[in-house]
Amino acid sequence: MMEHTLTAPTGTCRILTDARLEDLKTLAQGRRVVVVTDANVFAAQGHRLEGFDVIQIGLGETNKTLATVEGLYEAFLARELDRSSLVIGVGGGIVCDIVGFAASTYMRGLRFGFAPTTLLAQVDAAIGGKNGVNFHRYKNMVGVIRQPAFVLVDPTTLSTLPIREIRCGLAEVVKSAAIADRELFEWLELEGERVEALEPEALARAAAGAVAVKARIVQEDEEEKGVRMLLNLGHTLGHALEQTLAPGSVTHGEAVSLGMVAAARLSVQKAGLSAQDAARIPRLLKRLGLPVEVTTEQVRTALQSIRQDKKRRGNQIHWILLEAIGQGSICPLDLTDTEKLLLGEGE
Ligand SMILES: NC(=O)c1ccc[n+]([C@@H]2O[C@H](COP(=O)([O-])OP(=O)(O)OC[C@H]3O[C@@H](n4cnc5c(N)ncnc54)[C@H](O)[C@@H]3O)[C@@H](O)[C@H]2O)c1
Repeated sequence: MMEHTLTAPTGTCRILTDARLEDLKTLAQGRRVVVVTDANVFAAQGHRLEGFDVIQIGLGETNKTLATVEGLYEAFLARELDRSSLVIGVGGGIVCDIVGFAASTYMRGLRFGFAPTTLLAQVDAAIGGKNGVNFHRYKNMVGVIRQPAFVLVDPTTLSTLPIREIRCGLAEVVKSAAIADRELFEWLELEGERVEALEPEALARAAAGAVAVKARIVQEDEEEKGVRMLLNLGHTLGHALEQTLAPGSVTHGEAVSLGMVAAARLSVQKAGLSAQDAARIPRLLKRLGLPVEVTTEQVRTALQSIRQDKKRRGNQIHWILLEAIGQGSICPLDLTDTEKLLLGEGE
């Protein structure tokens, strides 16, 4: 087991990588504990949670709502949880986001921890203290920033996760390496297939590397006023593609993969990335089973949706680009100019 400590204004989080779910017993010692999970995780990993009082919540984004949070408050009340209790979210990013929010707000804040069971949650969603739920059609619209007391990363939980979900996490690992860890990127180029094949040692290395990048960045900028924005590499176009491509045709990770390929291309024109290094991004993503090709028409539609995004400041948009492999940068770019470059009309 390896341990990192993330210290930020809203709390200190112990991050235990290459740990085992069974270690939760030690972390819970001496406290009244409830575990919150979902039906899939309970079916796949529930036998490892014996002895815990387990609450199950509904599956999927449609259950990432205030109604589910209210259901958890009811369950906490029925169990007479108090400020000395501990709530542990065991599951993917959805479980972690909901549990973190419910625990952070119940009685103005219960102690909580996570045992993320998807690769995406292990390297991204569970780390960093952003907790929240969707509201109407807006994702993660209601939430708080508060660090969990611990995040226990057990790579063996991934043995029951579908490969498409594994790849979602791999896209985030590549992202973290591309923005801030050249060594991890180079290691993925050599050994990435071992991660996809779920070789325990390789998984542990990839997860620990990506976790270290995110923890370092969050520690520096918990509120996402600066450097934390780098973690959005591939996400601007990725989110737009997710919204505009046929429902269910791409996962979040697949959309981020396509977004990173576009960002690499823009980086050559706008951030000084060499064409040779830019080509390494799609090459690695493809080797990890992620999509790298998107039609001009699909990009055009996605860009139209970015244009309508209310959060945009004037005609400028903050793109996360790469100056080099392992060195991301935040670039405010003119949207019309970017559109031309991405659509191949301005080269
Ligand atoms: N808070 C943050 O900083 C942050 C960052 C990135 C993403 N997110 C959020 O994370 C969510 C996506 O997370 P996700 O991709 O983990 O999705 P998810 O939580 O829906 O999990 C994916 C699926 O895998 C199942 N599952 C989970 N672990 C399993 C296991 N070990 N074996 C078998 N099945 C398992 C789940 O039941 C679910 O059906 C989104 O809501 C997103 O907004 C949050």
